[in-house]
Amino acid sequence: MRYIYILCFLLISGFANAQNARKTESFNAGWKFYLGDEPNAKEAAFNDSKWRSLNLPHDWSIEGPFDEKHSTGQNEGGLPAGIGWYRKTFTVPASAKGKHLFIDFDGVYRNSEVWINGHLLGTRPNGYISFEYELTEHLKFGAQNVIAIKVDNSQQPNSRWYSGSGIYRNVWLVTKNSLHIDHWGIQLTTPIIKDKQATVELAISVKNAEARINGDKNAIVVFPLQVKTTVYDATNKQVASNITFANMTDDIERQRIFQAIHIPNPKLWSTNLPYIYRVRVQLQNGTQLVDEQTINTGIRTFNFDAVKGFSLNGIPTKINGVCMHHDLGVLGAAVNTRAIERQLQILKDMGCNAIRTSHNPPAPELLDLCDRMGFLVMDEAFDMWKKKKNKFDYAVDWDKWHVQDLQDQILRDRNHPSVFVWSIGNEIREQRDSTGITIGRELVDIVKQLDKTRPVTSALSDADPTKNFIYQSGALDLVGLNYHQEVYADFPKNYPGQKFIGTEQMSALESRGFYDEPTDTTRFWPQSSKEKYTRGNPEMAVTAYDNVAAYWGSTHETTWKIIKKYPFLSGMFVWTGFDYLGEPTPYPWPARSSYFGIVDLAGFPKDVYYMYQSEWTNKPVLHLLPHWNWQPGKTVDIWAYYNNADEVELYLNGKSLGIRKKQGDDLHVVWKVKYEAGTLKAISRKDGKIVKTEQVVTAGEPYQIKLNADRSTIKADGKDLSFVTVTVLDKQGNPVPNADNLIRFNIEGAGVLKAVDNGSQTNLQSFQSKQCKLFSGKCLVIIQSGQKKGNIAVTATGNGLKSASLGLIGG
Ligand code: GAL
Repeated sequence: MRYIYILCFLLISGFANAQNARKTESFNAGWKFYLGDEPNAKEAAFNDSKWRSLNLPHDWSIEGPFDEKHSTGQNEGGLPAGIGWYRKTFTVPASAKGKHLFIDFDGVYRNSEVWINGHLLGTRPNGYISFEYELTEHLKFGAQNVIAIKVDNSQQPNSRWYSGSGIYRNVWLVTKNSLHIDHWGIQLTTPIIKDKQATVELAISVKNAEARINGDKNAIVVFPLQVKTTVYDATNKQVASNITFANMTDDIERQRIFQAIHIPNPKLWSTNLPYIYRVRVQLQNGTQLVDEQTINTGIRTFNFDAVKGFSLNGIPTKINGVCMHHDLGVLGAAVNTRAIERQLQILKDMGCNAIRTSHNPPAPELLDLCDRMGFLVMDEAFDMWKKKKNKFDYAVDWDKWHVQDLQDQILRDRNHPSVFVWSIGNEIREQRDSTGITIGRELVDIVKQLDKTRPVTSALSDADPTKNFIYQSGALDLVGLNYHQEVYADFPKNYPGQKFIGTEQMSALESRGFYDEPTDTTRFWPQSSKEKYTRGNPEMAVTAYDNVAAYWGSTHETTWKIIKKYPFLSGMFVWTGFDYLGEPTPYPWPARSSYFGIVDLAGFPKDVYYMYQSEWTNKPVLHLLPHWNWQPGKTVDIWAYYNNADEVELYLNGKSLGIRKKQGDDLHVVWKVKYEAGTLKAISRKDGKIVKTEQVVTAGEPYQIKLNADRSTIKADGKDLSFVTVTVLDKQGNPVPNADNLIRFNIEGAGVLKAVDNGSQTNLQSFQSKQCKLFSGKCLVIIQSGQKKGNIAVTATGNGLKSASLGLIGG
């Protein structure tokens, strides 16, 4: 065999010529959209000039309107679904000839069909998976090309929660050389972690897109490949590097190259200090740089133990997690990095350290943020397998797609330090028959072939180990239990030697700022499946005292007390961190969003947020509920959540109502108080010294509007957001807790009004409206920056109210 070396070996002094490496461009701008079916739109010559222009990501469902006729689809969120078409005309430069071009979709809900210049590239039913198509062979270089995408979410119901519809995640155009690092082609692990040194191992899959698989064996070309990997610390200082040489012949399509790099004195990644290293991988063919990719990584160890529970870097740690659906409340499913970051910041401030991506692979941006902000992630694959939960759900695509979808999820997400557990499913119906064994084993096997560094679980709703077939498969590394908190104490007895993870807990119900008295009993609502949708009060609001839960769950305090008590219970994921669209339990339409959140749909914490904060953080917490605006003489239960103190004393108008101390495993204290207008003041003390003071004042009539922005300077990138909280104050400046005034907004300058909401589960006003009624004294207006720098003026007016304005900067 004669080898022709196309390049001679040179001593490599550097890796110049970076413009030859891959180019990844956002492909979000300049799309045309049509809501409805238009089969001819796949043809390049189709005239889309009358279609709406927009930029991605885009979720057409969130644009509304809310309507009862949509309340059976999207699991009763009341928002429209249907079919939509997207088209984009773009020019590929002549200079790109010889390159390979790909389009990458982070997620399209659902059933996408992608056409390039009239050629079908593929279809993808799964609405949460990321996928890539190669465009090259159908492209016209130096000319215009048309990509057309049909998105079909018309078959309803196909989800148990609000899914959104459309190309709701980012899209990328990636230009690569024929010799490149494969799609999701780098696997990075940290098998050895010691104080003085950590070893990073890389497996790099190199692809030759022009391999001559059946070519002439006598004229084989050898590529003298080099992989140069450089590791940078968080200050951008180079801390390690390595070069690996390998020959690849042009008659093979793929070759894996293995490399190990040693990082001296590694700084560990943890939820408190999420230290990130940047790993740059450069692929060189001879002297030519052909590809380059950078991966963020964190160095950490963790362990689940049947007796001791979970530890991170050797430190016993409770998983204080929440389940999150993918919607961003009023922004719908359309991915916005700042909106995800805000959700995570609110959760972080509460002391939450883990997210379960219920019940589907998340947006890549969520994982990037969790890496950076210090959250552990349970990355979940499916809400159903072959047996459906809804008529048109993924079960219909199961046979054809589950292997590829699961593989793609693992390949995409396995380098994230935040991801610590894979979940192969939520409350899967195959728990109850023997296919739970076979499918369970098959899925775990798929995961393990691609990643052996993380445990696999499945969120089981049948807690009887003798009857649960997925558990019986023996394939799960962790026993994930949903609800059934009453059996947790007996876990070691019922599941000898097994490791526990609480995959889903609580399903407590609350509306922010709404209170029912008295609070002595716990109510389950609905009380049984038969009683689903029992109507309670006309407001269709649920009291915000933590004493109402769905019958399959518990109040927040009930389950947390159990999880807290036993070390073998590694932790839990509360259902849910935030309210989400769809699944309005216990009320039906016109309720359109869930009551389960610790935080409401607009991002305002409900009172129980402070219970978690008092338990999960060391920040001094003293929170009183409810508000102090009642009918004279009414008996009101005053709850206080507190920490870092021995006792709390409550005063009404300067008169002490007594000292309360948490007893046993109490998580709050209570006073029953006859209402009289004025000031309620609480003081927490430790060893006789004041730790914190908190007061609630009876408010007078609504008098003036107050605006409060979470950030007053936002980036002028057309994406960044300022979340502005709107409250109404009385003449003395006290917030009016029950205010429900209608507020109108006017935005001028370098920004636009993106959405409004008040967090009420029954608010049917369009999120795109320029006005919003307050609910329990609050509403939210979201301002989005434009592409141009400049000032943004926000004005809020309301009948009979002093208006308010606020200046923001788009910079
Ligand atoms: C669980 C389910 C969740 C959600 C929740 C509501 O059983 O896993 O997806 O439906 O109930 O309480």
